[in-house]
Amino acid sequence: MGVNLKVRHFLSMLDCSAEEITAILDTADALKKQPRGKDLPLRDKTLAMIFQKPSLRTRVSFETGMTQLGGHAIYLAPTDIQLGARETTEDIAKTLSRYVDLIMARVFGHEIVVELAKHATVPVINALSDFEHPCQALADFQTIRARKGKLAGLHGCFIGDGNNVAHSLMFGAALLGMNFTVITPPAYEPKAAVCKQAEQIGAQTGARISTTHDLNACRGADVLYTDVWASMGQEAEAAERKRIFKDYRIDAETMKRADRQAVILHCLPAHYGDEIDYATSRLPNSAIFDQAENRLHAQKALMVHLAG
Ligand code: CP
Ligand code: NVA
Repeated sequence: MGVNLKVRHFLSMLDCSAEEITAILDTADALKKQPRGKDLPLRDKTLAMIFQKPSLRTRVSFETGMTQLGGHAIYLAPTDIQLGARETTEDIAKTLSRYVDLIMARVFGHEIVVELAKHATVPVINALSDFEHPCQALADFQTIRARKGKLAGLHGCFIGDGNNVAHSLMFGAALLGMNFTVITPPAYEPKAAVCKQAEQIGAQTGARISTTHDLNACRGADVLYTDVWASMGQEAEAAERKRIFKDYRIDAETMKRADRQAVILHCLPAHYGDEIDYATSRLPNSAIFDQAENRLHAQKALMVHLAG
């Protein structure tokens, strides 16, 4: 995994093999059954949590997870360390490595987590960058597997912006043999390099990974996923995106096209009435709060695999 060969980092879904992802999901399922086991695999260990952006789920699930594993987490707000302004990313990585056992970071540019990993001597976890959100994808695949009993051979559809969440899902689906279609308005496709790499991996695993502008491509889909039209940092584009994305949403029409049993997913936070309507988000098919819960179990499993 990752950049620094001496340490395993989790910056991308591609930092794990399919076997490793499956092992993490299995551990996550076991931890879900028994969240506070007798054995405390991260007893006395400390996680530093660097945030350049806001968060509810990521902060609370990582912090709670460390408590349940016997360790401790330190929240470093955007104003605390002022990554790159008060101090260089290199110096932060080197300093934190002298204190803590794990670092997680939510950043704007993906290059910041890469830089942290380059200089840290402890594992670095990407807790969302503008390029990927791999912790979210772990929880999502745990959720899909629980609802559908398998991952390989399913057809997942992501409708909306070809963003960080879409990238991690594409990589994960490709590795795990799940067919995956990303449906976006023109000019908002996932990055071309991600499409190419995911398609190449999919060719080995039997997963068809594709992108389209055609909303009918979700016909018969087993999984429907959406995310906000404007991600954190894109607030200035929100009004324009609202106009461009208006049909790229999960609503009653989408549900008619997909399989009647299709699992509805959203990483949250949601903008109800935009990318998903409230009524659809509350259907029995919706697993959005299972996803939120599984962030806790999946990240605990990840931390045990990296630092246990
Ligand atoms: N899904 C997710 O990462 O939520 P937060 O932004 O609240 O952490
Ligand atoms: N794509 C969204 C995900 C939020 C969890 C963002 O980056 O803001």
